[in-house]
Amino acid sequence: MPAIAAYAPGKIILTGEHAVVYGQPAIAAPVEEVRARAGIEANPTEPDGKINIIAPDIGLDTSLDALPLEHPIATVFREVRQELGLDHLPAMTLNITSTIPIAAGLGSGAAISVAVSRALSSFLGSPLSDEVVSRIAFETDRFYHGTPSGIDNSVISYGRMIYFMRGGPLEILTNAETLTLVIADSGEKSLTGKVVHGLRTRIELDPQRYDPILEKIGVVSFSARQAIEKGDPAGLGNLLNDNHSLLQQLGVSSANLDLLVRIAREAGALGAKLSGAGCGGNMIALVEPDNAQAVAAALLSAGAVNAIFTTIPQS
Ligand code: PMV
Repeated sequence: MPAIAAYAPGKIILTGEHAVVYGQPAIAAPVEEVRARAGIEANPTEPDGKINIIAPDIGLDTSLDALPLEHPIATVFREVRQELGLDHLPAMTLNITSTIPIAAGLGSGAAISVAVSRALSSFLGSPLSDEVVSRIAFETDRFYHGTPSGIDNSVISYGRMIYFMRGGPLEILTNAETLTLVIADSGEKSLTGKVVHGLRTRIELDPQRYDPILEKIGVVSFSARQAIEKGDPAGLGNLLNDNHSLLQQLGVSSANLDLLVRIAREAGALGAKLSGAGCGGNMIALVEPDNAQAVAAALLSAGAVNAIFTTIPQS
């Protein structure tokens, strides 16, 4: 069997994080500038079923048997094997590397699951469809999140900008104008499961306060879709700003994220907001292409630990 490599991009959420967990729409786009890679090679001299896993970025150097059953990588192996109707696997070594920062709202967990599902199914001679890969990544996301909405696995598996509603059909968005974004890392690690759980507790205690905020975020995503489809970056920028203040009201921002969002706007961004679970992780700024460097420089001097550029191409 030839050696195989498969890749998956990172992702950003443009609008609608958290509200999407409660049935509101959200918009997400892949970030091709960072990615996870899964490489597999056969070990013909080893006994069948002996699977080595080497993943330095997540501190793994082990064999599949040694992983807990619910571990995301063990889950991917089990799901792919079931999907392909195989009762045993040949000996192999899986190497995972990733340039997607961990616990930063860029979808590193889902990207690893997608890359491993693709590499493993191709290695076994039956590459799985985006739909099945997405379903498998959703299963593994439960390990990190508990109650994922499904947006991360969907945007990363399909590799396109999507308009997503829990339980609804997946919609690939058309984009009238190429969008340029700066993504800056606050440097604070944030565990999505913890932030989602904290918000759930607040909502359950005071639904009258939080439900209207979630609904307003849904309206922001609906309007953002229109701005994207008709090519109105300035309008989209304002909606990102509105989304950030609604996320502040949900209690999922942080002093650092608020500072970076303000600095990006002062440096001329069309709009800025936290992206992903919040309470740390990354923020995004929508910029004019010729202003991208200046916004990134301002963010770095205000304390961002990293800044990358991405574009969402016209489609
Ligand atoms: O994985 P993150 O940090 O980008 O967060 C995912 C977005 C949430 O809406 C907060 C959770 C979810 O499952 O949709």
